[in-house]
Order: sequence, then C-alpha cells, then structure tokens
Amino acid sequence: MNTRTLPASDPQSLAEAAACLAAGGLVAVPTETVYGLAADAANGEAVARIFEAKGRPRFNPLISHVAATEDAQALVTLDAAALALAERFWPGPLTIVAPARPDARVHPLVSGGLPTLAVRMPQGVARDLIARLGRPLAAPSANRSGRVSPTTAEHVSRSLGGRIDLILDGGPTAFGLESTVIALEPEAVRLLRPGAISADDLAQASGLPVLRPEPGAALQSPGQMRSHYAPQGRVRLEAGHVEPGELLITFGRYRPEGVADAAEIVDLSPAGDLREAAANLFAVLNEADRTGIERIAVAPIPRQGLGEAINDRLRRAAAPRD
Ligand code: TXA
Ligand code: MG
Repeated sequence: MNTRTLPASDPQSLAEAAACLAAGGLVAVPTETVYGLAADAANGEAVARIFEAKGRPRFNPLISHVAATEDAQALVTLDAAALALAERFWPGPLTIVAPARPDARVHPLVSGGLPTLAVRMPQGVARDLIARLGRPLAAPSANRSGRVSPTTAEHVSRSLGGRIDLILDGGPTAFGLESTVIALEPEAVRLLRPGAISADDLAQASGLPVLRPEPGAALQSPGQMRSHYAPQGRVRLEAGHVEPGELLITFGRYRPEGVADAAEIVDLSPAGDLREAAANLFAVLNEADRTGIERIAVAPIPRQGLGEAINDRLRRAAAPRD
C-alpha cells in the first residue's frame, strides 16, 4: 500500500482524511500527545486493520476519541466526578475509562470484550477531523505494537509506512507523551496509566485521592505490559556512570561519571523542566532507533509530577523483552 502524507494545516487534507476514514481507511493523526492511528470506531473491519497494521494483541483495547462531551456520553456513563474532570481537562490529554452504554455505536473490537470503554477528547486537528467525520475515532498510538510512540509524522512513516492509507503531518506533538488514563472509583481516582496530566493535577482538580494500580493487578489496564515503548537498543536506567559507546540520556545538566566516553549525550531538559523532558523523550528514543545505537544509559530523572509518567515509560523501555 502506498502511504500518502498530507499537511494537516491544509483544509483539503482534512476533507481527504475524513473521506478516507468514512470509507474504512486508516489515517495517522497528530494529537497533542502523540500521533494516533485512527479508524472509524463503528467500523469493525477498519478497527481490525488497526490491530493488523500495528501487530497489536486483540485483547488490548483502544481509546475512542470524541469531539464533544455529549459524544462521550453517548458511549459511556460518566458520573459526576468523571464529568467534572472532563470539564476541567477536555479537550486534552485525559482518558477516562467508564462503563460502556449498551447502545454505544462502537464496534466490540474497540473494547476488547471489556464492559468498559476508554474515551477522550483530543485537541486541535484530531478533534476537527472527528467533528468532520461526525463519528468517534478509535486510535492507539501510531507505532508498531510494543515500540516507541511517534511524536512526528516521520516517526509514523518509518514505523507504519506502507501499512496505512494516510498520514496527516501536523509537526511535532506538544506533550510528546500519551494521555493519562484513569477510572473513577467511589471517592477516588484510579490511575491506570500515568501520562501527560500529573497525578497531582488530578488530585487537585477532583479533590479526590489518586490511587495507583494495585500490585499484581497489572491488567486493570491491559496495555500496561511490562515491555513496551522499547527502542531497538538496550536501555539501562538510573545510570551513575557511562560505559564507552553508550548514548547517554540525561536531565537538568547532570553529567554522570565517564561521560567523556559517551557516543552521544542528549539532555532531555538542560533547564530541568519535566514538561520539556516529556516532550523530548520519545523523539530521542525514535532517533536512537533511526541511528541504530545499541546501548542507551539513562541518568536518574525526578519522579514527581510528570516525572512519574516519564519514569513509567523508561521502565518499560528497559524491561526484559520476550
Ligand atoms: O495519548 C494517547 O492516549 C494516545 C493518543 C493517540 O490519543 N493514544 C494511546 O493509545 O496512547 P494506546 O492504545 O497506545 O493506549 C491506550 C491505553 C492502553 O494502555 C489500553 O490498555 C488502555 O488505554 N485502555 C483502553 N481501553 C481500556 C479499558 N476499557 N479499560 C482499561 N484500559 C483501557
Ligand atoms: Mg501505545
């Protein structure tokens, strides 16, 4: 298949993308987090093609993206606490997992057989495209399953070129890290995947405690596999020294011992800004894949705020692969 890339800023591109989706095609779309691989969520064949193009296990459910809160409410039941969070953070990088409505017009493949659905309202071009199509879009990150998420159109093209119909190029994404996935529990917010909105921000906005996944209950969110976001090279964390030939990924001007022997040094944020570091992380890992670097050492990165999501992705990038 010949994959075309079109500029997202051109209204004609949006029209073509909407037509392609309406015909059951696959379109990579920039969101404020990462590029998504979108299909009409009601079209089972199109959704099945997402799983094929990514090589994604079928049990791992997809997020339904909507253009308005009412459209989310046509898919899931949002309680008062969920609605308040939607009000505060949508459009934006918050995904809410909630009970699916029996009449939700989403193909069962999207939820992977679960009684719940994940919904989010993205910013910008993605939202315009959903509004134009007039239906929710199912969209995982636009990368081969288990690999690093794409933050530019070029990353998408390297990973999925020839396997999808269209790529809308909207430049580098703003957050560079996936949405935060939550579910509401009685009097608490359950964090299913740390992401671009920090747990502190959720606690503050909801007035509720934020609970981490219980140990052992790893499959509360089926996508939270141990090895994920993995670059081709081997990743070593909390590096206090550099071994000769390693790519060093560091933060806030920290320079570990042996830094002179590094093949290359990338500082995710010399100013020590976690937001900037999050925006750069996947771009750096994707670049490492492009250049074929074999060993990557990552210096310690603070754990507070967005650092939780950054460390989560790094842990999975470094996890043993089967
Ligand atoms: O920022 C993002 O969220 C990006 C952009 C494209 O929106 N999308 C994304 O999708 O990261 P994906 O498929 O790579 O990750 C979705 C996560 C997975 O961990 C999946 O298991 C979880 O959401 N998820 C989806 N539906 C769920 C459900 N019903 N219950 C629990 N977890 C769910
Ligand atoms: Mg993903």
